[in-house]
Amino acid sequence: METCTYCDQLALYHVRGTETYLCRTHAQIEIVGPQEHQRQRPRVAIQIRPANENECAVVAEAARTAWNSFEIDCSDFEAHLERAPTLVAWHGDQAAGVICYQFEERTVHLAMLNVRPRWQGHGIGGRLIRTMLDAARAEGLTCAVVITTNDNLPALAFYQKLGFRISAVRPDRVTETHGPRKGFSGLPMRDEIELEMKL
Ligand SMILES: CC(C)(COP(=O)(O)OP(=O)(O)OC[C@H]1O[C@@H](n2cnc3c(N)ncnc32)[C@H](O)[C@@H]1OP(=O)(O)O)[C@@H](O)C(=O)NCCC(=O)NCCS
Repeated sequence: METCTYCDQLALYHVRGTETYLCRTHAQIEIVGPQEHQRQRPRVAIQIRPANENECAVVAEAARTAWNSFEIDCSDFEAHLERAPTLVAWHGDQAAGVICYQFEERTVHLAMLNVRPRWQGHGIGGRLIRTMLDAARAEGLTCAVVITTNDNLPALAFYQKLGFRISAVRPDRVTETHGPRKGFSGLPMRDEIELEMKL
């Protein structure tokens, strides 16, 4: 996994067009910049496949980077990543991204989504989400729910681009569960933001 260019933390983001990798603290939103499709974003060959037991290490690494934990605890929803259905996006033999989710009644809950920094901005996160949504539709589910945090401005942009709408805001839910944490750009990570899509 890549390390932040400015400190020794694990990187979560990649600055497009440069070889700079950023942890949460050193990342900051770019206010003005061209959208990728206007810049002829290079396509990368990706294959999305369900993870098998031997590929648990990929999930473990993504979980360590994102939450330092195998258990995701959000309001009304708990996921154990080692048991949740998991898809991995492969570029050759490299794991470029991973998504874990859970079906509960008529709803698919996203448990974890992580695109490795060097592969961000190539449409891989979008493809992982769409593959999860197709699996949910195939099972007759009618709703998809994702939860992110108040600081995660890139994720809020990403989910809304894909068609999710904000459906709930839970002030202080993250602090109550995980204690005080710093998030994107050093913002306090405090509140849960839930977004939903009807299938
Ligand atoms: C959020 C994340 C999954 C996006 O993955 P990605 O592969 O880079 O996203 P894509 O290339 O598929 O982007 C899909 C759309 O979202 C938009 N988007 C993605 N990142 C964005 C950003 N930082 N700012 C604005 N829009 C963004 C893209 O422009 C694209 O829109 P378009 O199709 O109109 O061009 C990735 O940045 C990541 O893993 N972040 C760290 C972990 C994380 O925050 N996970 C979510 C936790 S809830």
